[in-house]
Amino acid sequence: MCGIVGYIGQRDSVPIILDALARLEYRGYDSSGVAVIDANGELLGSKAEGKLANLTARLRDGEHISGKIGIGHTRWATHGRPSDANAHPHMDCSRRMAVVHNGIIENYAVLRDRLLEQGHTFTSETDSEVIAHLLESNCAAGGDGTVTERIEAALRATLRELVGAYALGVICADDPEHLFFARNGASPLVAGHENGEVFVASDTPAILQYTRKQLIVHEGEMLVVSANGWKLTDYDGNPVHRQATTISWDPGSAEKGGFKHFMLKEIFEQPTVINETLAGRIDEQGDVRLEAELDSISEDLLRSISKISITGCGTAFNAGMVGMYLLRSLVRVPVEMELASEFRYGDPVIDHGALTIAMSQSGETADTIEAVRIAKGAGATVLGICNRLGSPLTRVADATLFTRGGPEIGVAATKTYVSQVTAMILFSLYLARLRGTAPLERLREIAKNTSLLPAAIDVLLNESDSIRAVAKSMRKAHSVLFMGRYVNVPTALEGALKLKEISYIHAEGYPAGEMKHGPIALLDSSVPVVGIATDGRVREKIISNLMECKAREAPIIVVANYGDTEVASFADHVFWVPKVDEMLSPILNIIPLQLLAYHIADLEGKDVDQPRNLAKTVTVE
Ligand code: AGP
Repeated sequence: MCGIVGYIGQRDSVPIILDALARLEYRGYDSSGVAVIDANGELLGSKAEGKLANLTARLRDGEHISGKIGIGHTRWATHGRPSDANAHPHMDCSRRMAVVHNGIIENYAVLRDRLLEQGHTFTSETDSEVIAHLLESNCAAGGDGTVTERIEAALRATLRELVGAYALGVICADDPEHLFFARNGASPLVAGHENGEVFVASDTPAILQYTRKQLIVHEGEMLVVSANGWKLTDYDGNPVHRQATTISWDPGSAEKGGFKHFMLKEIFEQPTVINETLAGRIDEQGDVRLEAELDSISEDLLRSISKISITGCGTAFNAGMVGMYLLRSLVRVPVEMELASEFRYGDPVIDHGALTIAMSQSGETADTIEAVRIAKGAGATVLGICNRLGSPLTRVADATLFTRGGPEIGVAATKTYVSQVTAMILFSLYLARLRGTAPLERLREIAKNTSLLPAAIDVLLNESDSIRAVAKSMRKAHSVLFMGRYVNVPTALEGALKLKEISYIHAEGYPAGEMKHGPIALLDSSVPVVGIATDGRVREKIISNLMECKAREAPIIVVANYGDTEVASFADHVFWVPKVDEMLSPILNIIPLQLLAYHIADLEGKDVDQPRNLAKTVTVE
């Protein structure tokens, strides 16, 4: 969703801000803008609807601005359509201060009415613009101290009046030596300081090429930045002492590295990602060791939990569902799934004996964070499964198991899905050993087989070209059904989600047994059915379901194990995968479906990495 960037130093801020904004494009946006204080102390800005290239062209072709201090923004519309006027930064009436804002100001209507009565003039339909005018109003009230201290005090007064979750950045022509930032709620903010330059952004990859030592600003904190460093305080002005964290991500990992799209690169990174997720978590005996990482959830507590509820959104939910089957099978504990977006309205029954597992790559998804708050409020213990160090989820959860997926730039989650499933395998094995609910040999065997998955995925990735050939035959379909059973129901859901989000072809994932209860009515020769029929307790059942689809003339595409002649005899196309333990099969079975979705979207010329209407991180309800 929206992105914030700020810079102060000895260089022209505009190219640096544009570069950093380009690295935030993946989060999804529909307009962008930049504001600087130039060498004459003037506040200048430029904004453009659409892609960042429009802003770059505007800055090049007539609206050239430069300055050693500046802020930039990519906007994902909430209040007011995408337009030049609604793009950030927003300025006050005197055009002395510029504001960028992520999140929503819930009480903006009341504030706007009051400011209009006071004579302020608004130029946009956004909730964000009230911040600029409110700040102007609070600055006009005067105060003691240096200009910086007066702006700080005015900003504090402004923050006290704002209701909502947000991150914001301000520059003010009266103080060309400082940038001001604040954070309240899920919208992240990080800052890095290198050799007389400070870079601020709403996401780590934006400034990773400039600095790997990044300070994470927490909720309820204000950051005042100069070229020499920063001052971090709470909203009351009390100093907060926190060291910058060294980010281990390689800056190159947020580059395409020769691949046509980030999504394709990230699909190919999956063997490495699984290795990373497993690294150091299985001992020489083959036992999973997570006690050090999960130390705030004691072993005794884990032994005593009476129920597990798993929550998340989209792909994270699907990964959680694989975890549900693993936990049921290995731990024999009641496990339920609840979409995070439904959690707060669904009256979930949670008590002190419950463990809630919150799945989120970003750790920022507003619905997931809210679900965690509700679960904690009801007394549950919360385990986060998350990819982002310092993200909101990691702070609200009692403990976090990191997935170590590295930066994922493509909006369509791929490598983070397999890393989440891998984390769920690890947690299930750990919990089963602690509770003694499965034979140790069986747990060790699963752990060993998990560590063999990367090599198997390497083999599957070699099939990318043959999958592209199948994609050619499916690219004009208007609708595709994906069917799985048992532990591969989530594979069907995830395969359908991948296809619909990047190709815009309607796709549904279904438990195959449900076909006869409705969806089979959709089938004819124009609706391909993709079935997952790898070895295991439901293979024969799903083959029967696929035969029913074939009888309705649907083209049949099957994910099956090498050498399955029965499947080969009736399928129009087969995606062959190696045979593995059924519980681990979702990790292999999703690979051809990711590649299928990728190739269809690419053949159709779609914007694979930034599909329309979607944001990488959904920070609003
Ligand atoms: C899937 O490709 C999407 N990126 C989306 O469904 C995503 O998984 C969902 O929005 C949850 O995001 P999170 O893992 O960052 O919480």
